[in-house]
Amino acid sequence: MRVRAAVAAIRLVGAAQAVRALGAGLRARAARRAELRSRAGERARTPGVLLEARPCPGGGVLRFERAELEIRVTVRGAVFLGWDAAPEPSHALADGCPAADVRTQLEPDKDGGWQVVSERLTVAVSRHGAVEIRTPGGQWLRREQPPRWWERPGGAGGGHWTACARVAPDARFFGLGGRAGGPRLRGSFRLWNSDPGGCFGPGDDPLSITMPVQFVVADAGCHLVFVDNTHDGRVRLTEGTEGDGSGHDRPGRCELRMTGGPLRYWVLAGTPARLLQGWSALTGAPALPPYWALGHQHARWGFDTAAEVRRVAAGYQEHGLPLAAVHLDIDHFDRHRVFTADPVRFPGIGALIGELRAQGTRVVSIVDPGVAEAPGDAVYDSGRAADAFVRDPRGRRVRGVVWPGRAVFPDFTAAPVRAWWGGLYAERLEKGFEGFWHDMNEPVSFDPFSAGTLPLDTRHALEGRGGDHREAHNVYALAMARAGYEGLRRLRPERRPFLFSRSGWVGMQRYGGTWSGDVATGWPGLRASLSLVVGLGLCGVPYSGPDIGGFDGSPSPELYLRWFQLGAYLPLFRTHAARGAGRREPWEFGPQVLADARACLLERERLRPYFTTLAVEAARTGAPYVRPLWWHEPALRRLRDCEDAFLLGDALLVAPVLHEGGRRRTVVLPPGRWYDTRDERAYEGPGPVELAAPLGSVPVLARAGSVLPVAGPEGGVELEVWAPAPGGSGGGSVAVGTPDGWRPARTERYTVRWSTRGRVRVERAEGGRPSYPVRLRGV
Ligand code: NOJ
Repeated sequence: MRVRAAVAAIRLVGAAQAVRALGAGLRARAARRAELRSRAGERARTPGVLLEARPCPGGGVLRFERAELEIRVTVRGAVFLGWDAAPEPSHALADGCPAADVRTQLEPDKDGGWQVVSERLTVAVSRHGAVEIRTPGGQWLRREQPPRWWERPGGAGGGHWTACARVAPDARFFGLGGRAGGPRLRGSFRLWNSDPGGCFGPGDDPLSITMPVQFVVADAGCHLVFVDNTHDGRVRLTEGTEGDGSGHDRPGRCELRMTGGPLRYWVLAGTPARLLQGWSALTGAPALPPYWALGHQHARWGFDTAAEVRRVAAGYQEHGLPLAAVHLDIDHFDRHRVFTADPVRFPGIGALIGELRAQGTRVVSIVDPGVAEAPGDAVYDSGRAADAFVRDPRGRRVRGVVWPGRAVFPDFTAAPVRAWWGGLYAERLEKGFEGFWHDMNEPVSFDPFSAGTLPLDTRHALEGRGGDHREAHNVYALAMARAGYEGLRRLRPERRPFLFSRSGWVGMQRYGGTWSGDVATGWPGLRASLSLVVGLGLCGVPYSGPDIGGFDGSPSPELYLRWFQLGAYLPLFRTHAARGAGRREPWEFGPQVLADARACLLERERLRPYFTTLAVEAARTGAPYVRPLWWHEPALRRLRDCEDAFLLGDALLVAPVLHEGGRRRTVVLPPGRWYDTRDERAYEGPGPVELAAPLGSVPVLARAGSVLPVAGPEGGVELEVWAPAPGGSGGGSVAVGTPDGWRPARTERYTVRWSTRGRVRVERAEGGRPSYPVRLRGV
């Protein structure tokens, strides 16, 4: 049976993919065993008793018998806590550690403890090193036990640490860089960026992006905890339970075990919008994509020739389907070597790109970090000359195996290497490529004797500090994104770079976005697609989306369409699939799917000004385009537990169909009036409503009082204004900016209210008539 399943799997995903999958499984088992062995005989050290408390700017330093805790409140409200650890150096912080908020006081607390009181939260520390995070109103959000450091017997080194916190019984966990089984997270999650080896579904973990970021939502308030440590680790999240009021509540638990690195973390508290604002101030504002990247994009692993690319692009034209970009995967490379083009299958690739550009379609290039170890290859030769590739402790170049065969890997944690790599994009720009798709950058090696990545003792510059792959692994892709982004800014300073990356870490939004990776074709994969986008958004990465239709196999027409309908409302709206998988062009699924997919594409085009506005808002405030339903009302439990619908900005609620045969669905509405955008019928929230979801459409609701910038029939912007509920009001903003330059967007705020004469009045917040035509709906 197993053999038959294995053969079927190999047929499905191809031999190379199957070997990857098998290798990944075996490696995971070996790692689990090694972990158990290494724990034997370990001894724990705790901080001991508090000896002294010293005030410092922003908080204070508490000296315990065996450790010191620094607490520093910073100017935009984020609080740093470091056990024998400073906030820097850090890969996550955008501009280093923010200045201390000098208004903060260190004060004695009860029972010999101390507390640091700031505007948004209070940190109380007991005399044994337990830490409690409280709201300004005094309610507790999180209770951390004193941490433990574990050392091998006889000081054998390789120590690690564990921490355990409690949260309210009603708290829900989100984040961790987005996980396929979320967005609400329960269970055990690894913190090690990994290629799942083949396709993944909701049960697979870890994936390409792992972030030690927990977004916790409870009745008492929301908080975000970020453990600034790039090492491998494991988080176990257990939701609490609430008793019947007789005091039998069980708090939620969060256990963290890191294999090394500093014990330091950041805490932010406040509303979801405030948390994301503070988070993006700390870790960097999201890069603003060029506006074309908010349109539909088509990728394919298996575009074997330029003729095939032309055929697909022509298909979009023939069927009247807008196509903003085509993505060229590794097949356009010469022998899979990065920064090359195959002279036979893609002769004169610049002409192809020019032709597509003339039709309004940009071309995006895949970029892999593994460089073929091939003397004579320009990238390899120049990298060697620049001493760019990582080495082992004995100074030998580390080799792996990726698509081009034997490969070496740039050390992106060295500034000169980033400068060299960034310069390589000149070759792409000359050919006319306009966007970049970073792949395989966990980094992956197929070498069966490696652990799926580089050996752990591989040396890295780590910005001059020196270290090994244990510390550098999780930030490898982040540093690669930085190299690409900075290179593009140097090479083409007048344009905003477009870059998205499979792997990454905290702060990756500074350079661009990401996509779901190889999500498995199937209804569970569709669900996982949404989960990843929501989870990433809560970790500060607003621009992402899945492979529409799934990566492998052939989706049924129904599944393809439902994926398309979801993708049309996600920031990265892209179809993609593996070599050997079935077709993904909308016309390949019959006339009805084509008509319905066309409706999605046209609606996306109509919503482009709204997506533009959301992109600008994300860059300014950190708020993701795709938000969980509880964004404005985190205390509403029914919303907190809803995982199959989302808010697109403030104005729209999108309720995709995520299971086969679904033709109606329950939509849990947040408070207020909502209009079904299909028939303008009004529904009152909060609470569930049953709505039709025939194959051709999914429920999309507009919030009463919202102002939605859309493309009018003549192409210009118009304002679609949804009538406020009787006696209510509303508003919204509109951002219009340079399509791909740096001139700041022009943002206008609008207010909407009922006039005394029973008319809906739409005005610019700073006074005056609207700058765009207004179309009133829902009256
Ligand atoms: C793995 C990526 O996840 C996938 O999108 C891509 O098609 C293949 N690598 C080949 O480049």
